[in-house]
Amino acid sequence: MTAPAARPARPHFSSGPCAKRPGWSVDGLSDAMTGRSHRAGPAKARIQEVSERSRSILGLPDDWKLGLVPGSDTGAVEMALWSLLGARGVDLLAWESFGSGWVSDVTKQLGLEDVRKLEADYGDLPDLASVDFSRDVVFTWNGTTSGVRVPNGDWIAGDREGLTICDATSAAFAMDLDWDKLDVVTWSWQKVLGGEAAHGMLALSPRAVERLESYTPPWPMPKIFRLTKNGKLNGSIFEGSTINTPSMLCVEDALDGLRWAESVGGLPGLLGRAEGNLAAVRGWVEGADWVDFLANDPATRSCTSICLKIVDAWAEGRDDGEVSKTIKAAAKRLDEEGVAFDIGSYRDAPTGLRLWGGATVDTADLEALFPWLDWAWDATKQG
Ligand SMILES: Cc1ncc(COP(=O)(O)O)c(C=O)c1O
Repeated sequence: MTAPAARPARPHFSSGPCAKRPGWSVDGLSDAMTGRSHRAGPAKARIQEVSERSRSILGLPDDWKLGLVPGSDTGAVEMALWSLLGARGVDLLAWESFGSGWVSDVTKQLGLEDVRKLEADYGDLPDLASVDFSRDVVFTWNGTTSGVRVPNGDWIAGDREGLTICDATSAAFAMDLDWDKLDVVTWSWQKVLGGEAAHGMLALSPRAVERLESYTPPWPMPKIFRLTKNGKLNGSIFEGSTINTPSMLCVEDALDGLRWAESVGGLPGLLGRAEGNLAAVRGWVEGADWVDFLANDPATRSCTSICLKIVDAWAEGRDDGEVSKTIKAAAKRLDEEGVAFDIGSYRDAPTGLRLWGGATVDTADLEALFPWLDWAWDATKQG
């Protein structure tokens, strides 16, 4: 098998930080408020503009709060867990590495005892019908390391008593989030819109704000997590005043991504691009005899972190270590060829590949990649 002639124009298929938008250039950041205080009027207005544009694209209900927080998505999720949990029992859902991290936070760090863990192996979802919405519920909309997403929000009770806390970092701007069913939603800039790392977004429903104002957790709260002041929501965090100092260069880049999102038709345009990418991968996988989706139920297959496992007859009877070594070597070959960067499966996930299909990836680049994947696997397994 000879190497294919055509190469992806952009070999960026990483699941975070993800590809920049098509046409992105660092020159687009020349108006950034660098060297200015983030609390100066014009700088604060830029920060607030990120929230306003995000709200409008995502269709965030008017009565929700949205703010920029430190520590990326991890910071946003942990702020929510530390600030809200402990008021009632909690159901923790986990089906891959990041969800398991939140389970560990709640059980080992916060030490909550009235906890139910609903877990599933890589490739599946836990039994969503057994979630108890009289309790708080923590879950990940899209499991980035297994490529398994919840299909929709139908399984969540509309009349719930507990809060739903949703890590949506690889779902926001690529999947339809059912805001009526959610109370806390988090994401970071480095994912679907291809922004820079280290900045998180925290969205709170009125019910989440009510909890913040009526419940004080028994543990100490680092300054970086503090969402209330004298028992009331610190509203300024949701009006452009961050807790500590953000990068104004990253803020400018986030605005660049949001303006691009608007230019491709807002949320429907973004969803269309990601679903188009998933459809392209599906078409290739159906014709390939060596890979399959890690997600078992087609309704749960992610359109962003598209995870694939090795099902080649060649792998039968070989130990997982050898298969793993071979796919890693194939991925390295593609990296060295400048054809695909960062497509190996996550370190804790089953052996395979992970292709990012979020909106900033062009379908044509995925299509140019598929023959290279076939070539690299074939050439590598033959030694
Ligand atoms: C589902 C999920 N949660 C949390 C994180 C951590 O994100 P960050 O590094 O932006 O804090 C990631 C990163 O890939 C993720 O995919």
